Amino acid sequence: MKKLAAGNWKMNGLAESLAEIDALAAAHPAPGCEVLICPPSTLLSKLSERASGTAIDTGGQDCHVAASGAHTGDVSAEMLSDAGATYVIVGHSERRADHGETDATVRAKAEAAWRAGLTAIVCVGETLEQREAGQTLAIVGAQLRGSVPDGATASNTVIAYEPVWAIGTGKVPTLDEIGEVHDDMRTQLTARFGDDASGMRLLYGGSVKPSNANEIFGVSNVDGALVGGASLKAADFGGIVSALG
Ligand code: PGA
Repeated sequence: MKKLAAGNWKMNGLAESLAEIDALAAAHPAPGCEVLICPPSTLLSKLSERASGTAIDTGGQDCHVAASGAHTGDVSAEMLSDAGATYVIVGHSERRADHGETDATVRAKAEAAWRAGLTAIVCVGETLEQREAGQTLAIVGAQLRGSVPDGATASNTVIAYEPVWAIGTGKVPTLDEIGEVHDDMRTQLTARFGDDASGMRLLYGGSVKPSNANEIFGVSNVDGALVGGASLKAADFGGIVSALG
């Protein structure tokens, strides 16, 4: 199983940001690690062209469930693939919160991703209130059951555990807390998908930086990271990639 360092640029990046790809490609010294950048869809096609011939893959941040049609402002998985993507993030907590996406929506989006030949990165994670109420494993378990479609395999699906309260806040769970959730996710996925789940990559996301990447990647069942803020600068993201490689 190759580890995965996935960068989510969110709603950041203009044409001038494409130069970060050159710097990242030049710095990327980690053959044991796959590197992915998910830019805003306005940059996807240009970034995919710029990254071709490098070890960097590109992905979308969301997709519609339909392949095409009257859905103003939306982008389909087929369009992402056409623009060079090989992955798409589905069910990020910002999509769940800002656009009311339910587990059923996220599952349908993951299926749309597969239909277009993309690997789906399915995001799950508890809020601070849920963690403080001792509900973390129950919430994450329910999201996994509801958001990951039947037929998930190590090659068509990646799971990202992102505690909502750790995203963009500089707060990170303890290593024991990360390990507890990742071990539980592996157990659940193995119970449901059997051997296919053993190679499924489980990413941690939420305030990952070069300074904490090493210790987080040492936690059992952490197979990479989904990185927001620290993916915007090649120098920072390169440090995270090196920690994985
Ligand atoms: P962050 O975001 O690294 O800026 O905390 C992570 C994410 O939302 O994927």
